[in-house]
Amino acid sequence: MKYGFIGAGNMGGAIMKGMTIGTGKYDPKSIFVTDKFFPAAENLSAATGIIPCETGAEVVANADVLVLAVKPHILATAIPEFYDVVAEKKPLVISIAAGKTLEYLGSLLPAGTPVVRVMPNINAKIGAATCGICKNEYVTEEQLEIAKGIFGTIGTVIEVDENHFGIFTTLAGSAPAFAYMYMDALARAAVQSGMPKKQALEIAAATVEGSAKMVLKSGEHPWALVDQVCSPGGTTIEGVLKLQEKGFEHALKAAFDAVLEKDNMIAGKK
Ligand SMILES: NC(=O)c1ccc[n+]([C@@H]2O[C@H](COP(=O)([O-])OP(=O)(O)OC[C@H]3O[C@@H](n4cnc5c(N)ncnc54)[C@H](OP(=O)(O)O)[C@@H]3O)[C@@H](O)[C@H]2O)c1
Repeated sequence: MKYGFIGAGNMGGAIMKGMTIGTGKYDPKSIFVTDKFFPAAENLSAATGIIPCETGAEVVANADVLVLAVKPHILATAIPEFYDVVAEKKPLVISIAAGKTLEYLGSLLPAGTPVVRVMPNINAKIGAATCGICKNEYVTEEQLEIAKGIFGTIGTVIEVDENHFGIFTTLAGSAPAFAYMYMDALARAAVQSGMPKKQALEIAAATVEGSAKMVLKSGEHPWALVDQVCSPGGTTIEGVLKLQEKGFEHALKAAFDAVLEKDNMIAGKK
């Protein structure tokens, strides 16, 4: 199986690194990449051993699986550059373009092209992305597994109904920013109480990581876990009630709705 990438930027680079030097699961010589700025492909090749190509057509001619890793607005001009080779070679096409639907992608590609849409997030840089994935009607279960395998090298892959992609993007794409803010706010509060910032941030982040694992692995409802931390007359209940008094959940809900509204607006749904 051979893999082609159009675009060697931030996310394309993170995926190719995940596949090769990150996990060692894919032979770098089975991966072909091109970038409008050719030195970007060459630099990635130097770091990973993958094969740089001068053109998209050259990449597609080599690929059974083609990953489109350019900015969303570039797709309409980039795909025609190798459209004929896609028609001939018939690869599985994977797009990571934010906001671009399977229907839109299908309209740019030869009729009947199997297309998978994936939404990774910024944590791909350290192999801890949360990726949403969906497919069109031409994609076989085997091809879906191939796509999941690729993105499994940069984190977790979760099948999401395409109608829920906007919600997924809000939860997994934007909410990391909320999580970073939460950790920094906690650490700054600890600084005010006298702890060095670096140490406070390390503790806050490790605590969030452990708490996330607890939610994922214990199977317990988050509020049941909150109750377990709040001993009667103890300290934690004071903080939990203060967060509620200050509108913690309302603030998060408002932030979520604001992101989703903007996402819908950009996608032309409203
Ligand atoms: N970054 C994220 O956290 C993230 C998260 C989820 C999804 N995504 C999606 O991932 C895609 C890529 O984003 P990114 O952040 O990786 O962008 P990026 O860093 O700008 O990478 C895109 C690369 O594609 C190159 N390029 C442009 N036109 C091309 C063409 N016709 N043929 C070959 N290469 C071309 C660009 O070169 P030039 O710079 O010279 O134009 C650039 O190096 C986007 O669709 C985005 O929605 C990104």
